[in-house]
Amino acid sequence: MNASSPERRAGNRLQLGTFGTNLAPGITFTRIPGALTTDWPRVRELARHADRMGFEAIVPIARWKGYGGPTDPHGSSFDTLAWAAAIGEATERPRVFSTCHAPAIHPIVAAKQIATIDHVTGGRAAVNVVAGWYRPELEMFGRKLDEHDRRYDLAEEWTEILLRLWTEEEEFDHEGEFFRIERGYSAPKPLQRPHPPIMNAAVSGRGMEYAARMSDLVFVKLDDIPERAVEQVARVKDLARGHGREIEVWTFAYVVCADTEEEARDFVHHYSVVHGEHDASHTALKVMGVEARMRSDAESEAFRLSWVAGNGGHPLVGTASQIAERLDRMSAIGIDGCLLGWPLWEPGMERFEAEVLPLLEARGLRTPAR
Ligand SMILES: Cc1cc2nc3c(=O)[nH]c(=O)nc-3n(C[C@H](O)[C@H](O)[C@H](O)COP(=O)(O)O)c2cc1C
Repeated sequence: MNASSPERRAGNRLQLGTFGTNLAPGITFTRIPGALTTDWPRVRELARHADRMGFEAIVPIARWKGYGGPTDPHGSSFDTLAWAAAIGEATERPRVFSTCHAPAIHPIVAAKQIATIDHVTGGRAAVNVVAGWYRPELEMFGRKLDEHDRRYDLAEEWTEILLRLWTEEEEFDHEGEFFRIERGYSAPKPLQRPHPPIMNAAVSGRGMEYAARMSDLVFVKLDDIPERAVEQVARVKDLARGHGREIEVWTFAYVVCADTEEEARDFVHHYSVVHGEHDASHTALKVMGVEARMRSDAESEAFRLSWVAGNGGHPLVGTASQIAERLDRMSAIGIDGCLLGWPLWEPGMERFEAEVLPLLEARGLRTPAR
């Protein structure tokens, strides 16, 4: 049985979660007043609200350095492991994720910290394993950023060690390409059996291969063309089945709900085009190598603006019924869950709860939280 197999969880057809509440200004690169800050009471209340709404997941973003510019988006971020322990204590039901950069956090430290979070939460810990891509933050650790696919070789060895520490009772030695472990041991074991779920959000072929072999949930950036999105989801699930595993496929989105579609689009323009942190988005995409891969300036600019508007996520922009319809379509093509983020979290979540959740329930995608 996989760590995320359906027997393990109560079944809403479309699971929901929050994304990036541990850093400022959340998943939007905006300067508007009210955007997310790293004020603990505020961050904790967002998690509690997600819990009250019955959300299944709370997923942070691990960032060690921001992207520069006047407001330096993601420059202020809570460490995801310490954050997850505290968020876990403040909530009752959602899975609480931590994110580990495999080249920065030693697997013995990660195994113990996540096992601790699993005990704090009564078995709700999960981990997003990231290979790392943001050179300035990883160079801070005094090591050079490996070539792309090699980073996943390291992540794979890192994950193998993590799983052994979580599941093996006997001490073990490990002599690998990246790690040498002498009489490796960790206790207590996590509460979840066989182990807490492992998430990954790879895009590349090598990354996807890692995800199919080692992770229980994979996050995809959905193709804008519906037919291609169907193939995309099926491909990931098939790849995992090729390794004898069932995998959940999730995606992520930013939400702007208004009385009319035009009003919602105007607000996106306001917070991202007029008051966006554009220098920072150029920096992020340049380091990621995305700008170099784009076929045209127009494509590059559209992608960049989607980063400013919502970290490159799927746009859920429109009326409540349009948003519910799009989430329904995601579920219909095989998406198991969607992480959400808002430019203005508190009013955004309140409106989602009041207007969109009832429509999702009416469509049979979710049942009421209480
Ligand atoms: C939902 C989601 C969450 C992610 N979280 C992080 C994160 O917290 N820290 C990070 O450095 N990268 C994060 N990433 C980036 C991925 O780990 C990955 O590097 C990126 O999608 C590019 O894929 P590739 O590594 O296969 O080229 C995230 C991506 C997605 C889609």
